[in-house]
Amino acid sequence: MKKIVLATANQHKVKEINQILKGKIEFIGLDELGFDGEVPEDQITIEGNAHQKADFIFQKYGLATIAEDTGLFVNALGGDPGVYSARYASKQHSNLSNIDLLLKKLSPFEDRSAYFKTVFCLVTNNGIQYFDGICKGRIIKNQSGVGGFGYDPIFTPDGYEITFAAMDSLTKNKISHRGIALENFIKSFNLSD
Ligand code: IMP
Repeated sequence: MKKIVLATANQHKVKEINQILKGKIEFIGLDELGFDGEVPEDQITIEGNAHQKADFIFQKYGLATIAEDTGLFVNALGGDPGVYSARYASKQHSNLSNIDLLLKKLSPFEDRSAYFKTVFCLVTNNGIQYFDGICKGRIIKNQSGVGGFGYDPIFTPDGYEITFAAMDSLTKNKISHRGIALENFIKSFNLSD
């Protein structure tokens, strides 16, 4: 079976994607490769970061590698926090949480539209391929829901009245940026059922 390295130390992500792929391709994580160092991630776009991470591992091991990067892009804030989503508050030396800082910055604006975008970058001997997924929605004013992670408690996807954090994970995975990007990867390799 074809194996692709998923450039993440997060075993949970590897397991989740392998369940979706149902054995058609096997993803292996960095710990299975015996790599426990830092993968560089200092580009100014999520595409750049995904490519940087995948290429770093590909150059080191010569194995087909895929890497992922995600950001939350808020229209009224000119696309912030975007590529800095994971470290939004700390980047500004703020003692607020990422969510609190975002809500504060967005409070003067009427337009609360936003979208999540995930990019997967695959680097192989045959070159580089990108697969992306976007989920549009809006930022609500007060946190709601206890599931998920990151900005889930303040993001309500279009067509729904509840946040990602209030959804069951099956529904979220079907409509989410990450789910759509993975779907595009699966389609491109004709792996669908
Ligand atoms: P990563 O590239 O998947 O590590 O995501 C970067 C950051 O974006 C995370 O630390 C979260 O703050 C945020 N993020 C990514 N995906 C999601 C999601 O599905 N829901 C909420 N926040 C997310």
